[in-house]
This record gives sequence, C-alpha cells and structure tokens, in this order.
Amino acid sequence: MYRFIVAGGRPLRGTVQIASAKNAVLPILAACLLTEETCTITNLPMLEDVNTMLRLLRSMGVTVERKGRSARITAGGRVATEAPYDIVRKMRASYYVLGPLVARFGQARVSLPGGCAIGARPVDLHLRGMSGLGAKVTIEHGYIDARAKRLAGAPMMLAGAKGPSVGATANTMMAAALARGETVISGAACEPEIVDLADFLNCLGAKVSGAGTPELRIRGVRRLGGAEYRPIPDRIEAGTFAAAACITGGDVEIRHCRPDHLTAMLDVLRRAGARVETGRGSMRIAGSGRVNAIDITTAPYPGFPTDLQAQFTALLATARGTSVVTESIFEGRFLHAMELLRMGARIDVKGSTAVIHGVEKLSSAQVMASDLRASAALVLAGLAAGGTTEVLRIYHLDRGYERLEKKLTGLGAKVERAGSPG
Ligand code: UD1
Repeated sequence: MYRFIVAGGRPLRGTVQIASAKNAVLPILAACLLTEETCTITNLPMLEDVNTMLRLLRSMGVTVERKGRSARITAGGRVATEAPYDIVRKMRASYYVLGPLVARFGQARVSLPGGCAIGARPVDLHLRGMSGLGAKVTIEHGYIDARAKRLAGAPMMLAGAKGPSVGATANTMMAAALARGETVISGAACEPEIVDLADFLNCLGAKVSGAGTPELRIRGVRRLGGAEYRPIPDRIEAGTFAAAACITGGDVEIRHCRPDHLTAMLDVLRRAGARVETGRGSMRIAGSGRVNAIDITTAPYPGFPTDLQAQFTALLATARGTSVVTESIFEGRFLHAMELLRMGARIDVKGSTAVIHGVEKLSSAQVMASDLRASAALVLAGLAAGGTTEVLRIYHLDRGYERLEKKLTGLGAKVERAGSPG
C-alpha cells in the first residue's frame, strides 16, 4: 500500500491551484442518469472516488467517454438499475444513483453502505425522501429496493435529529426533478454542493429554486436534456491548504477557490491570528509562529465544516493555549486525535468533544490514516513536526485529494509517496 514520507519543518510558500469539489462532482455524475442525452462534465478532479463513480455508471450500461479532465456521459440505452455492494462499500456516495434511477426508470436496487470509520452513517432520510415522493421502499438482503411508476411531488420535511442531510437533500432533489407536480423540501441542506447540483439540474432543464436556503422547491418535468457543466472548486481542499500554510508558519496563495464558501473557516483562521487576504477566486493565508488557541464546533453550512475538523485539530495541536473542538455531525470522528497523540499532541477526547492543549512542537512518528480527512490531518502534522513522519494507508487520501504530495512539494514541502498501490 502507498504511504507518505513527510520531512517536517519547512514553511509552505507559493501558489497552489484547487481542483473541482469532489462532493459536488459525485452527485452531478449520478444526476447524468436522469437524462438520455449526453452530459459533458469538465474540469473533473483526478480522484479515486471519481473513477469509482464512473466505473459504477459504466457497470450499469451508461456510456462514459473520458478524456483527461472531461467526461461525456450518456445514459441513452438500456440501463441496469442496480448499484452492487462491491462498489457501494468502496464509496458511500454511490447511493446518489438511488434518486435518479427511481425517478427515470421506476426502480432502483442500491446496496446499503454500512458503517464507516467516522461513525454511524444512517440512510433513513434518503428513504424518507423516496417514500415522500411515493416510491415503495423496502430493505432486503442488504439492499434498498425502491419502486414507483412515476414519482409524485409532495411537501416534505427532510431534516433529522442532527439537522439537514446533504446526501438525502441531493438524492430527493434529483428524484423530484422528474416527478409529477411540485416538491417542497423543508429542512434542506444549504451546502454549496447542493447549490451546484441544483444549477446543473437547471442546466438540464429542471425547475429547481431556493437552493442554498432551507426550503427547496422543485417543479417536476417530463424529461431532461443534456448540458456541459463545470463544477465548483473544492472548499475542503482549499481549507486543507489554508491549515497547511498556518501549521508550517508559511505563506500560501490558494487559487481557483471560493472564499465566500469558506467564511466560517476564514473567521477561525483570523481569530487564531493568521493573516488572511481574500480576492475573487483566490485567497492568501499566512501564519507566523504558533496560532492562538480557539474553540470550534462543526455545524451544517454555513457553519464550520466537519470535513475540516481533523485538519484544524492538527493545527490546534500546536496552538498557544487550550482549544475545544466539538464535532456535532459525526460523533465518532476523532480517530486522528489518537494518532496525533503518538506525535506528541495533548488531546483529551470525551464523546464528541476534544480538548486540545497546544504543544510547542510535534514529533515525527509512524501513523495510520483511518479516513480521508484524518489522513490529511496527519500529513499536516507531519509537515509541522521535527523529523520524518510516515503516514500509512494513503489510499484514503487519494479518494479525495488530487496528487496532494505534488501540490505540497510545489509549495516547498518534502513529501514522498512510497510503496505500491496495494
Ligand atoms: C456529510 C457532511 C458533508 C461532508 C460529508 C463527507 C454535513 C451536514 N454534511 O455529508 O459536508 O462532505 O459528510 O464527510 O456536514 N443523517 C441521518 N440520516 C440520514 C442521513 C444523514 O440521520 O439518512 C445524519 C448523519 O448521521 C449526520 C447528519 O445527518 O449526523 C448529516 O449527514 P449528511 O449530511 O447526510 O452526510 P453526508 O451527506 O455524508
């Protein structure tokens, strides 16, 4: 398996270019199932999760012509309406095919994803969305089976006990695009990736309004057409480089990003003492010495993203003072803290809260990545530590970061990929 060897202690300096957002691209690729016409998605990030989604579409009989960063996708002929366990267990986002398949073909069989390293990942709200549109939903042999002659639009409340769900909002919005009549989703997720999906659906001829607010309105249409679409930049990749600039006391210009999608994170950075300049489509982040301790609570957008919690836990591990990080989306999401302890961090985790007593310097160690964002946190810690850190199980990182070692090396870091794909 691949691993990273990180020689710490070099401040990052220079310019880095951000890729398109994985979490926007994956539902958009699934949404191509809603039309028989060709959709061209441009500026695709070179990520394992994107390969997996394209493989899933191909396995269903969809024509996928990929040329570098573009893919032409045509779900024109016979489409198999099943997403098998073998693919779904590799990538939870496979469940995005559920809504499009039921809406267009009247049936879908999608494997239940099961748990994952960041905690319980229920799908009840996805099922609520499908049933709300009139589908008959059953769970059998580890699969969700949803059927409907034609879905019917309806008002529904889609938030759960933990607040809105990005995945369920996306799935239900895609399904409602082809339903008869109007759907009103209350308690919708407001994430920029939801807005991007709505924009893409509208390019196909859908009638979605209110995206980015908790109330989404979708007037169903009979059929959708094709389009060419370029997804938004990845706010989590941009935030990861911002944290990397600070933790190394560097100065980095982050290009092709949307600072307006990162206001909660930029606010945290400013309060922690970093220098932050934002422009149109770019931002410059500079740190000098240790950051100030600061408390963070993750929350649905526009709050602080759960997908940046691990990276900021690493940053605060070397802060001046004691910080409290509260994870309100996925309570089990602190496995990286256990690995950071091995690098000399002082972190007490109790339930969904981590109390971080900042230390002056982390020390290098061999550490194990448990999930995508935890991997990034460990690489960041390695960049700041004295000595050489080895981060094992880098395959998690390749799911969501495009050539991270290349981009970091371009900023003056010393990061090498070792081993084999495994
Ligand atoms: C979540 C994040 C998203 C991130 C992604 C990958 C939020 C709100 N969402 O999206 O930003 O990119 O993880 O790390 O921060 N839930 C249910 N029932 C469901 C679905 C979800 O109870 O059917 C709960 C989840 O357990 C969680 C919360 O709702 O506590 C948000 O989940 P959801 O937004 O659906 O997760 P993802 O779509 O995976």
